[in-house]
Amino acid sequence: MQNLDLIRPVDPEVYAAAVDETTRQQTGIEMIPSENYVSQAVLAAIGSVLTNKYSEGYPGRRYYGGNENVDIIERLAIERAKTLFKADHANVQPYSGSPANQAVYYALAAPGDTVMGLALPDGGHLTHGWKVNFSAHYYNSVQYPIDPDTGLIDYDVVWKMARENKPKLIWAGATAYPRVFDFDKFAEIAQDVGAYFAADIAHIAGLVVTGLHPDPVPVADAVSMTSHKMLRGPRGAMILCKQEHAKAIDRAVFPGLQGGPHDHVTAGIAVCLREASLPEYKTYCRQVIVNAQALAEAFAGRGFTVVSGGTDNHLVLVDLSNKDVPGKVAQKALDRAHITLNANMVPGDKRSAFDPSGIRMGSPAATTRGFEEAEMRQVANWISDVVEHVDDDKVIERVRGEVTEMCGRFPLWY
Ligand SMILES: Cc1ncc(COP(=O)(O)O)c(C=O)c1O
Repeated sequence: MQNLDLIRPVDPEVYAAAVDETTRQQTGIEMIPSENYVSQAVLAAIGSVLTNKYSEGYPGRRYYGGNENVDIIERLAIERAKTLFKADHANVQPYSGSPANQAVYYALAAPGDTVMGLALPDGGHLTHGWKVNFSAHYYNSVQYPIDPDTGLIDYDVVWKMARENKPKLIWAGATAYPRVFDFDKFAEIAQDVGAYFAADIAHIAGLVVTGLHPDPVPVADAVSMTSHKMLRGPRGAMILCKQEHAKAIDRAVFPGLQGGPHDHVTAGIAVCLREASLPEYKTYCRQVIVNAQALAEAFAGRGFTVVSGGTDNHLVLVDLSNKDVPGKVAQKALDRAHITLNANMVPGDKRSAFDPSGIRMGSPAATTRGFEEAEMRQVANWISDVVEHVDDDKVIERVRGEVTEMCGRFPLWY
């Protein structure tokens, strides 16, 4: 259990908001694909005295004294990451996914170099070279698209663009791509044009580590991931890399970009990696995929346009254009029904990033809660009901009541 009562006498305002957030999480269905619920053990690690310590440097090579316990924890996290992902080298210090990607750039490219990544409106992450991000300001960013007709990456197009632009670094990875990545193909393209290849598996790390999706570790120069999405760890990140890049990656993280690591988060990462090594975690990840597929099928059955026709992973992208409801309007109505998701651009979107045509959903959090296919089909039906009646308070109220009842049957442990 989290111990919010200790906050109450010191800071009643933060206490009240934290209590309300706990209730929101308990009584609502979380469909944002990048979110999840951490275990009690992970929560305890990040709420521990490890937050008090400064540990600039790496295990055995610290700039401060008193790091004997932190060294044990960071070594555990590193060794577990290396063993689970079968990687030459692991750095567990990046503060989050974006700083991890910055470190990959810092280690493998120089300012002004050409870099290639999936365009943000087509599902790429900001840090893969989108125009408002440092990755497009300091590097010459070339963005490859998703084929709007298939909803898939066209590897011939990526290859052609790579040959034309001769990038130093090519990214594979996404924040909204429901299909399998052909990491071997990306590696082949990178090798052909003399580029480094980096895979960002923030969303799908769980599927990679359990062998349910292709593994980029053997073929990529660097692999970055967040620990707080499907991995069910604290907010943090890791970088895996080939031995030849180990020094450059470590130097890029510290002292290149960061100061002291967040030791309480490192402990949380170590714990979540231990949890991810257990057979139950693979069962969970399998269910994540099955649940997302049940969700996608139920949407298709209700006449919704599922981007790429379905999903291979945890994520479902639905284009609402044929329903004449903008993604943001749907998101707001669903908030009122206690179903949380986010408006999202879809490939070939005619609307803007601020007011996109689609909604993005994922199964990791609901699956952690215990939902299976029947519950996911019900969720798809509730979302469909609300989207088809966005202005009807009675429908929204009815769905909210049913959602609250279902959440009561699948309680969280906080
Ligand atoms: C593919 C991908 N990479 C990186 C990140 C960045 O992570 P953070 O928000 O922790 O900086 C995200 C976040 O959603 C992501 O989806």
